[in-house]
Amino acid sequence: MNVLVTGGAGYIGSHTAVALLDAGHAVTLLDNFANSQRAAVDAVRAVANRPVDVVEGDVCDSALLDATFAGARARAGHGFDAVLHFAALKAAGESVVKPLAYYRNNVGGTSALLAAMAAHDVRAIVFSSSATVYGTPAKMPITEDLATVPINPYGRTKLIGETLLRDVRRADPTWRVSVLRYFNPIGGHPSGELGEDPRGAPQNLLPYVAQVAVGRRPHLNVFGDDYDTPDGTCIRDYVHVCDLAAAHVRALACVGAAPGFFVHNIGTGRGYSVLEVVRAFETASGRRVPLHIAPRRPGDAPVCYADSSRARTDLGWQAEHDLRRMCEDAWRWQRSHPEGFGHGGG
Ligand code: NAD
Ligand code: WQD
Repeated sequence: MNVLVTGGAGYIGSHTAVALLDAGHAVTLLDNFANSQRAAVDAVRAVANRPVDVVEGDVCDSALLDATFAGARARAGHGFDAVLHFAALKAAGESVVKPLAYYRNNVGGTSALLAAMAAHDVRAIVFSSSATVYGTPAKMPITEDLATVPINPYGRTKLIGETLLRDVRRADPTWRVSVLRYFNPIGGHPSGELGEDPRGAPQNLLPYVAQVAVGRRPHLNVFGDDYDTPDGTCIRDYVHVCDLAAAHVRALACVGAAPGFFVHNIGTGRGYSVLEVVRAFETASGRRVPLHIAPRRPGDAPVCYADSSRARTDLGWQAEHDLRRMCEDAWRWQRSHPEGFGHGGG
C-alpha cells in the first residue's frame, strides 16, 4: 500500500515506518518536528534501506494536507491507500498546564486530517490511542469494553479523537478505522539506530533509566514505594516498540481488507514493577542505576496492564519480545547514541 504516516519522525512513528517499509509498503512521513529530529528520518531510510518521502509541516494545516494528498495522487496515480496517524502532543502532565495546545494540536490535527482524507477519497486510518483513555480502570486486566474516563486533557484529546472517528464512520460506513490503544511502549530498533529520544528531562520511566545508566543523570527518582503491590512500586504493561510497530502492519492489513471500526489494546498482558524494570535494565546494560525513593506522582494508578486477547484474535498479533529484550534494545540505542539524535537533551 501507499501510506501516509503523520508524526512519522517520532518514536513510535519512526519504528512503524521501518516495519511498513520492511513489509513492502511505500511510505510518506508528515511531521513538523515539534518533538523529533530530522536525523530520525535519515535513520529510517538507512535502517530500512528504502526511499521515504517527507513532508515537513503541521497536520493542522489543511492547505498542506490538501497539497500532500493531491501530490501523492499525481505521483502514484491512485494516491494514498491509508493513513497512520501518530502526530500528537503526548505529555500528560504538560497537558494539564497547556490544555489549549493539546486540544488544538491533537483534536484540531485529527479533524483537519479526516476532512482532507474524505476530500481525497482516502477512508482507511490507523489511529494512535492510548491506555490513558481508561483513566483509573475498575478492573485488571483492562479489556476494550471498560469505561473510558481519562483523567487529564491529553487523555481526553485521545478519547475525542476516537469519538471523532466513530462519528465519521457512523455517517459514512465505507470508512475503515483501526484504533490502537497502546500501553507502555519502550525499547528501540535492534540495529541500535532508532530509539526514544525525548527532549529535555524524560517524563517516562525507561528513557530516564537509560539516561541514568549512560551517565547523563545521577539517579532515578522512584515515584512511590508504598503502593499496594508486591514491592510497593507501580506496575505497568511495557511493550516493545517493534512489537507495537508490527501491530500497525497488522492493523493496516485489517483496514485494507474491509470497512469497520476496530478498537484494540496493544500490550503484553504482563505487568512489571518499577523496581523490576530497573533490575532488568541493570542486567541488560551491566550498569548500576542509583535510586532515590521520591513521593508518589499525582495521577499514577498502582497497577495497569492489558488484556490484548482481542488483538490476538482479530489481528493475529501478540507481543513477542520480553522485558529483557526491551531493555537490551533500549540500551543498545542509548549506549551508541548517548545524546539521542544529537539535540543534547536537557
Ligand atoms: P513522539 O512525540 O515521539 O512522536 C509524535 C510525532 O508527531 C513527533 O515527531 C512530532 O514532531 C509530531 N507532531 C506532533 N504534532 C504535530 C503536528 N501538529 N503536525 C505534524 N507533526 C506533529 O511520540 P510517540 O511516543 O511516538 O507517540 C506517537 C503517538 O502515539 C501519539 O499520538 C501518542 O499520543 C501516542 N501514544 C504514545 C504513547 C507513548 O508512551 N509513547 C503511548 C500511547 C499512545
Ligand atoms: C511508569 C511508572 C511512574 C518516571 C505514560 C502516560 C500514558 C502513556 C504511556 C501516552 C510509573 C514510574 C516514571 C520516573 C518513576 N503515554 N516512574 N520515575 O505513567 O504509565 O504512562 O506513558 O499515551 O498516557 O501517562 O508511564 O513511563 O511515565 O511511568 O518512578 O522518573 O514509572 O510513577 O509508575 P505511565 P511512565
